[in-house]
Amino acid sequence: MNVIFMGPPGAGKGTQAEKIVSEFQIPHISTGDAFRAAMSQGTPMGIEAKGYVDKGLLVPDEITNGIVRERLAQPDCDKGFLLDGFPRTVAQADALSEIVDSLGKKIEVVINLAVDRSYLLARLTGRRICKSCGSTYHVIFNPPQQEGVCDKCSGELYQRSDDTEEKVGTRLDEYINKTAPLLDYYQKRELLREVNGEQDIHAVTEQISSLLRGLA
Ligand code: AP5
Ligand code: MG
Ligand code: ZN
Repeated sequence: MNVIFMGPPGAGKGTQAEKIVSEFQIPHISTGDAFRAAMSQGTPMGIEAKGYVDKGLLVPDEITNGIVRERLAQPDCDKGFLLDGFPRTVAQADALSEIVDSLGKKIEVVINLAVDRSYLLARLTGRRICKSCGSTYHVIFNPPQQEGVCDKCSGELYQRSDDTEEKVGTRLDEYINKTAPLLDYYQKRELLREVNGEQDIHAVTEQISSLLRGLA
């Protein structure tokens, strides 16, 4: 099962990906997570990416495409993969199509988590992430049992540096200008399926998982 999750910042891509990859046993490939890991390790790519991520801007296509090209060639992607947050520009979508062709693979479905803009600021500013295992929480919508502590591994929870009101505004503008056109791109290729991402977390998971079971 080769799947893409699309949707604006805060739509729930990462939250749903955690659940779906555990059910379908496929790797979760998040370009945002890859940038954050490289940034915290201080690699040359991480240092370059930081200049964009910290401003809420998209990282240039050449850097981003390189990460995905390398990752999809790994043997664990032979059983399928879930791309979260890639592609985000038409140039990235064209590059992806070339990458999967060259590997003899095919994108089977693009799931758009549709969420109105009015929901996103509260979701993003209330998000907390585990430093150790990367699990995502929300102070109101999905709180951990103990404040600031991960339920799964007791790791410390932190807030992303781009989850401030100002940066969320820039990220949403980037989404509207550069990423939203991909909905039409994948609609034309008859790959796009929409899921209502405004429902509660569990209901969204149910809908995605039954959609994917129907394709498997
Ligand atoms: P990335 O990490 O991909 O961020 P994003 O697209 O802005 O998306 P988010 O991770 O913020 O949201 P999400 O949809 O995963 O929501 P989540 O599940 O966490 O990218 C970060 C940066 O990296 C970019 O700005 C860019 O600089 C760079 N980058 C990454 N990919 C790139 C690319 N392809 N090209 C160029 N640059 C790239 O949920 C959010 C919150 O809401 C959580 O607290 C969660 O608990 C809560 N929540 C989730 N679902 C629900 C629900 N149904 N109801 C109530 N609350 C919910
Ligand atoms: Mg995410
Ligand atoms: Zn944890």
